[in-house]
Amino acid sequence: VAMKIDIVSVFPEYFDVLNLSLFGKAQAKGLVEVKAHNLRDWTHDVHHSVDDTPVGGGAGMVMKPAVWAECLDDLLGLEPRESTADDADADTGTNADTKNVDAADGDVTDADATATDTADTDIANADIAGIDMGAESSRPVLIFPNPSAPLFTQRDATELSHADHLLFGCGRYEGYDARIPSYYRAQGVDVREYSIGDYVLNGGEVAVSVMLEAITRLLPGFMGNPDSIVEESYTGEGALLEHRQYTKPAEWRGIRVPDVLLSGDHAKVDRFRRDEALARTNEIRPDLIEALDCKALSKADRKT
Ligand code: ADE
Repeated sequence: VAMKIDIVSVFPEYFDVLNLSLFGKAQAKGLVEVKAHNLRDWTHDVHHSVDDTPVGGGAGMVMKPAVWAECLDDLLGLEPRESTADDADADTGTNADTKNVDAADGDVTDADATATDTADTDIANADIAGIDMGAESSRPVLIFPNPSAPLFTQRDATELSHADHLLFGCGRYEGYDARIPSYYRAQGVDVREYSIGDYVLNGGEVAVSVMLEAITRLLPGFMGNPDSIVEESYTGEGALLEHRQYTKPAEWRGIRVPDVLLSGDHAKVDRFRRDEALARTNEIRPDLIEALDCKALSKADRKT
């Protein structure tokens, strides 16, 4: 299998749809193997509870670190650190426990800074190497959707499409205990937190579906026509919105397609499309133009 994907959620049935359509075919072809796990399978109490009230007060519930840790230790193949009993009464933690928590907390800033730096660098070989590094390649990249995290972009999708094992953790309610990602970072796990956009969803399931689709469609053999991937918005060197598309007939309900597209002059067509991509990006997403690498714009582009 090219890529193994584990998903942890309190609604694993949500991911049943992955057996349909393109994704189902990719699974049948052996390109991906997806398993959705129920977080509650790692609980021990009769109510299978996964959340608790926020420390410091406030509305809603926060997902408990102990349940996640049992689940993630298991799926990451790490030795469980603490016994279930210790985890269950976390309030009466030993000194050793407390120290460990401090250490993990102390790392938060550093670890987060590293994560952001990595996201900001080019899709550098280093990034990809970080994922593909031989011996470590069997350790999954751990990904948590989180509305308060850096934006997930096409660059992240491209980078993650080179990993051979992804583990997604879906948060619910008001989120998950912040010590979960910092603890696993401190254990040397490649932990990512991403927002899929500036809006709030009820939980991570939809966000994971979005990231999963963006990542897996880049796997060789996933799409019928690989060329369609190369030309798309946000990819390639340009990172512009795409030009508009038309099909036949040349005139429909009195609206004609732009004449140049009918000219058969490929150079002219390319220039027209490039100009349109630049103009539309400038109008709709000026932030993408700002973010462009200067080298991505040719002399002719600049004139536009
Ligand atoms: N969970 C809730 N809202 C989210 C968002 N916008 N992105 C990622 N995860 C989320």
